Amino acid sequence: MSTDSINKKIPKLAGGGLLLGQARKLQEDIIGFFMKNMRLVGDIYQLKINFPLTLTVNTDTEISKCMLVSQNKLWVKSRNYKPLKEVLGNGLLVSEGDFWLSQRRLSQPAFHRQRLAGMTEAMNSVITESIADLGDNDAAPIDIHSWAMKVTMEIVMRALFSKPDSTDNRQISKAMKAGNTYMNWRVQHPFPFARFFPNEVVRNYRAHKDSVDQVIIGLIEDRRSGNTHGEDLLQMLLDARDEDTGEGMNNQQLKDELLTLFVAGHETTAVAISWCCLLLAQNEQVQNNMYDEVREQLRGATVSFKHFASLEYSRKVIDEAMRLYPPAWILSRTPTEDVVCNGYEIPKGSVVENFIYGIHRHPDHWRDPEIFDPNRFDKSKIAERAKYAYMPFGGGPRLCIGNNFALLEMLCTLACIVQRYRIEMVKDQQIEMQPLVTLVPKNGILLRFHERK
Ligand code: HEM
Repeated sequence: MSTDSINKKIPKLAGGGLLLGQARKLQEDIIGFFMKNMRLVGDIYQLKINFPLTLTVNTDTEISKCMLVSQNKLWVKSRNYKPLKEVLGNGLLVSEGDFWLSQRRLSQPAFHRQRLAGMTEAMNSVITESIADLGDNDAAPIDIHSWAMKVTMEIVMRALFSKPDSTDNRQISKAMKAGNTYMNWRVQHPFPFARFFPNEVVRNYRAHKDSVDQVIIGLIEDRRSGNTHGEDLLQMLLDARDEDTGEGMNNQQLKDELLTLFVAGHETTAVAISWCCLLLAQNEQVQNNMYDEVREQLRGATVSFKHFASLEYSRKVIDEAMRLYPPAWILSRTPTEDVVCNGYEIPKGSVVENFIYGIHRHPDHWRDPEIFDPNRFDKSKIAERAKYAYMPFGGGPRLCIGNNFALLEMLCTLACIVQRYRIEMVKDQQIEMQPLVTLVPKNGILLRFHERK
């Protein structure tokens, strides 16, 4: 057990049924419920869900730091990651301990800045191919979320496999979609027996699971035997060698990592782009400021790696959009022994939900938290804030490995959109968040894209 002294007690939330506890409230509106509790109960509390299970919900940044950074070795991913594990095998997002560390070391070089610089061209070519779809049909309303899902899917496929044969490409994309839908369904139906339900989502996922494994293993074997070439993540992971043993990954490990990169990098980035476009449409002045910067810096060209630094305002817009709508809205961990964090004793085996959405709108860290204001990310203001008041990519050793990839992809996409179009809100639509694996816009987001003269 860690040695900090215990001087506070985690409050228990009153109410809820004997058997289901607060499970209904979580099903109905988990974000609204957690936000209300943050105001009325505090930054850490425990609640009952399906008997005998409990959850501890946290928005105390000192506890987040303890969980993700200072005492991270005493924590593992909680049982809530089971649906992801079912789909992703033992990839980086869900693996633990020495195996995770060795895989992380092998994968890290693939995400170094120079490697990313090399991927910018592929990103831009996908974006350029798809950008005209937004302005088709005299600025008819477009669901930006569907568009972004398509674009980010294509980008991640090219980053992983360069340009696989189009049949393989279609097969993988279809299977990945089935896997994603299944994971989201499992998040909504977290009971252990739910996966045995013979419904459409489960059947569709099962039907694709084996075929996608075979296609990816086929792509790996073709590459190993020199039949195909590519400067992509597949090649980088294939070439990676353990510094001590000189060993690389076997086919199974490679397949799990490639699937993980696809799943972790696709929907997250798509929802970030979608929410950001919505906020730009709702905030004309911010959109104009971003347009001025993009026009001046790019002069009609696409984003290249050097713009990572010079498109300063656009970066702040992206940061602020991910503050209000963090794609990974919650992280969940379990301590492997009793731990003490910021004076609270957290018992071994508890499931602690680090509620990122709440932390990002916490009035202790953010003035007028509901207001969209990119200037919050001025360097001086960042320095004044608690470090873990903002963590769209998590933190500590398990920080998102694709954070710079994602930021670059968002910058390329959003700068391209803003340079070409003025984004306008479509009135009378209900924008709703749906907290699944990521924070999805439930009914999509309809926007109009007017070609700039
Ligand atoms: C806006 C986009 C993205 C967001 C908001 C995001 C967020 C996150 C967060 C919060 C975590 C930590 C999860 C935890 O601690 O439980 C994570 C981990 C991870 N992300 Fe991302 N991510 C994004 C894009 C990407 C991309 C583009 C890739 C890869 C191409 C990627 C690959 C991964 C992987 C492999 C992990 C697990 C890392 C480890 O545990 O070692 N992510 N991401």
